Amino acid sequence: MTLKSALSIFIFLVSVNVALAQKTTFKQDKQLLQIISNDYKTAADQYKLMAKELEPDKFPKTFYPATGKLETSSSDWWCSGFYPGTLLYLYHQTGDKALLTEADRMLDALAKEQYNKTTHDLGFMMYCSFGNAQKFEPKPEYKQILINSAKSLCTRFDPKVGCIKSWDSKKQEYLVIIDNMMNLELLFWATHVTGDSSFYKIAVTHANTTMKNHFRADYSSYHVVNYNPQTGEVQQKRTAQGFADESAWARGQAWGLYGYTVMYRETKDKKYLDQANHIAGFILNNPNLPADKIPYWDYNAPNIPNALRDASAASVMASAFLELCHYAGKKEGQQYYSTAETIIKNLSKQPYMAAAGTNGGFILQHSVGSLPAKSEVDVPLTYADYYFIEALNRYKNINK
Ligand code: GLY
Repeated sequence: MTLKSALSIFIFLVSVNVALAQKTTFKQDKQLLQIISNDYKTAADQYKLMAKELEPDKFPKTFYPATGKLETSSSDWWCSGFYPGTLLYLYHQTGDKALLTEADRMLDALAKEQYNKTTHDLGFMMYCSFGNAQKFEPKPEYKQILINSAKSLCTRFDPKVGCIKSWDSKKQEYLVIIDNMMNLELLFWATHVTGDSSFYKIAVTHANTTMKNHFRADYSSYHVVNYNPQTGEVQQKRTAQGFADESAWARGQAWGLYGYTVMYRETKDKKYLDQANHIAGFILNNPNLPADKIPYWDYNAPNIPNALRDASAASVMASAFLELCHYAGKKEGQQYYSTAETIIKNLSKQPYMAAAGTNGGFILQHSVGSLPAKSEVDVPLTYADYYFIEALNRYKNINK
């Protein structure tokens, strides 16, 4: 063996060791794995039940147990991608073709939204649905739909503000909500497949502007930042779905946690990891986070401990923590992992997990859409289900 080849073998072994040393292995709880396997079965049965109730081209929104009313939407509602996305996750786990057939039916009804330029929610709508379809059952048409969706989303970006516009409103306003961090994953995907870095640059610029303006000193976030569309300056910071302008709306904190975790995955820029860790710190050290880790709908809700919980925020947190635990230091990583375990265990039982055959076919109960608007209060929601099932998948595959 020459000195040169011995040296390359040595360098290779060192790098393998470093790579292995960096990857933390998480100890899986056998009992929880069994719970998860039961959850998949219950969830698949529930979604097949819901499928029977849906009228053509209608997407599930929520269910009101008191009246037995299943509320639905058309494809342009921000939540339209979650139902097909969850069906695809469940199909991938169970192999049950009925779930795939139903997902395909909904994807057909959703496809036209690829050209929708009136919403910033295209990431939620198209990436959670067609993104999952492309992952599990790839087709050239799915790829094109996703690329078109990313292009439509980018039409809402204004370089003067440095953000994608969330909500259309008055001429003198440019509204951006923390939720919008969740739409960036679609743009990273588009750069990966097209090689066009403009999607990537818009995502990074949006995330940087949001990091600068949406967060308080304690790393909680405002829900809405209103920019001056002429100058790009911040003219107002406020809430829409939280308790107060200065409160920490629970789902908003979860969107930020998930969003900056994705930012770190996609860029490997440490400032995003730091941001995600700081947001995690705000959540986990919050005296108002209950021991079961299912947050109240707002960390500053006035009637804690009697305030409503939000299962959707818990689901998003669990899924985000199961990714962030891989990137964080060992101690924080373990804390994120065990928090996600606690959330999954608690969501998998009463009062959150619905009894089979009830809840209009939704999987989870007790989420809060918008309490100030008295809309979807203490009800099932498609995104609570979606991120819960995603969290189960992440837990199951944690060491893969
Ligand atoms: N605006 C999306 C949400 O309710 O979280």
